[in-house]
Amino acid sequence: MRVLLVGGGGREHAIAVSIAKSSRVDKLYCAPGNAGIAQVAECVPIGVMDFKALIAFAKDNAIDLTVVSQDDPLCAGIVDAFEAEGLKIFGTRANAAIIEGSKAFSKNLMKKYGIPTAAYETFTDPQAAISYLEGQKFPIVLKADGLALGKGVLICGSYEEACEGVREIMLDKKFGSAGNELVIEEFMTGREVSALAFVDGKHYQLMTSSQDHKRAGDGDTGLNTGGMGTFSPSPFYTEEIDRLCRERIYQKTVDAMAAEGRPFKGVLYFGLMLTQDGPKVVEYNTRFGDPETQVVLPRMKNDIMDVFDAVMEERLDEIELEFADNAAVCVVIASGGYPLSYAKGKVIEGLDAFNGKEGYYCFHAGTKFDENGNVVTSGGRVLGITALGETLKEARARAYEAAEWIRFDGQYMRHDIGKAIDDAEA
Ligand code: AMP
Ligand code: GLY
Repeated sequence: MRVLLVGGGGREHAIAVSIAKSSRVDKLYCAPGNAGIAQVAECVPIGVMDFKALIAFAKDNAIDLTVVSQDDPLCAGIVDAFEAEGLKIFGTRANAAIIEGSKAFSKNLMKKYGIPTAAYETFTDPQAAISYLEGQKFPIVLKADGLALGKGVLICGSYEEACEGVREIMLDKKFGSAGNELVIEEFMTGREVSALAFVDGKHYQLMTSSQDHKRAGDGDTGLNTGGMGTFSPSPFYTEEIDRLCRERIYQKTVDAMAAEGRPFKGVLYFGLMLTQDGPKVVEYNTRFGDPETQVVLPRMKNDIMDVFDAVMEERLDEIELEFADNAAVCVVIASGGYPLSYAKGKVIEGLDAFNGKEGYYCFHAGTKFDENGNVVTSGGRVLGITALGETLKEARARAYEAAEWIRFDGQYMRHDIGKAIDDAEA
């Protein structure tokens, strides 16, 4: 088979490694890819939103399957565009990708179908939003409706802060048109868990659990980022929690989307909060998580191409997903300044240390080759250093050991990825 993967982040590097491992794949291309993906795929310089060029490439190169797991192209209809040309593609159609693309849509869906989530209201008028804030409990959560690179959520400690937040999102358009509509929701407390599932429109198959670390600094301080590190499995995702989620959340969501005439096919990401009243949905994403994928896929035993087929052929109920009985930790190495402005073009040293090291992965996120052939930084999150271990503690020790092999100007990482593992034991 000839496969085209669309994207160029750490998640795509992990997906590319899984695809390249399949005995069914003869040739893998990635558009646009990055310096790490180039080790397992031929990178082609086409942007993820250039559907016309991607379709032309797929036709000219006899691509059997295209794979997409990034929110922007999915919400903009890349799957619909490929299908309209008779091309096979793994990903979610636009009418279902809206489950991530519009928080107002997903909140209304959960309300209509009784899926547990934080209480909320939606607003298109800033004045009405501000009036609503009077008399609410704080902290309170403001969410821009649309896609905002995972940054469109403000947790506001006071009435004044929340009013300022409404102005920033709805009037100053800090997150652009994503802020045309606003969700104001109840602040929940509890542990967060990411649960990813393959969904074929009717059935789902859950992958192993994981946990992200969204804030930039140690001890969950600093700004929200796309994710600074992950571990898998989550010791807090117990059998009891799994049972509750299966009963109250997963199948209900799949059925709700089908009932709305928006059958969901692809990867559905459940961002869960384990509250005192049971698990609740914080958010849905229409794709693999980043950097969750970097700890989930290295543990998956199935041939990923078989799973993609089962999704597209609506027979997920016929397969069984299998995960190794081990653990993985991913530590993101970022460029100083991220998630605000940061330098680019810094030469990265130490990458060769990963060659031939079983159980260690250096997933590239923001990297490229410069004109001298050096691997240099080209994004905020630069690398995701992942290690496997028999236990979470072993995986964590190995990931931090390997993170020390890397050197570039201005690099930073969190030092407490997986600290919750110790809490679980306490
Ligand atoms: P989201 O983009 O919806 O995943 O939100 C980003 C982060 O904000 C989440 O991972 C949570 O840590 C936090 N968050 C979102 N909604 C709530 C809520 N209702 N209560 C508490 N924290 C929240
Ligand atoms: N790690 C969070 C996300 O992929 O949205």
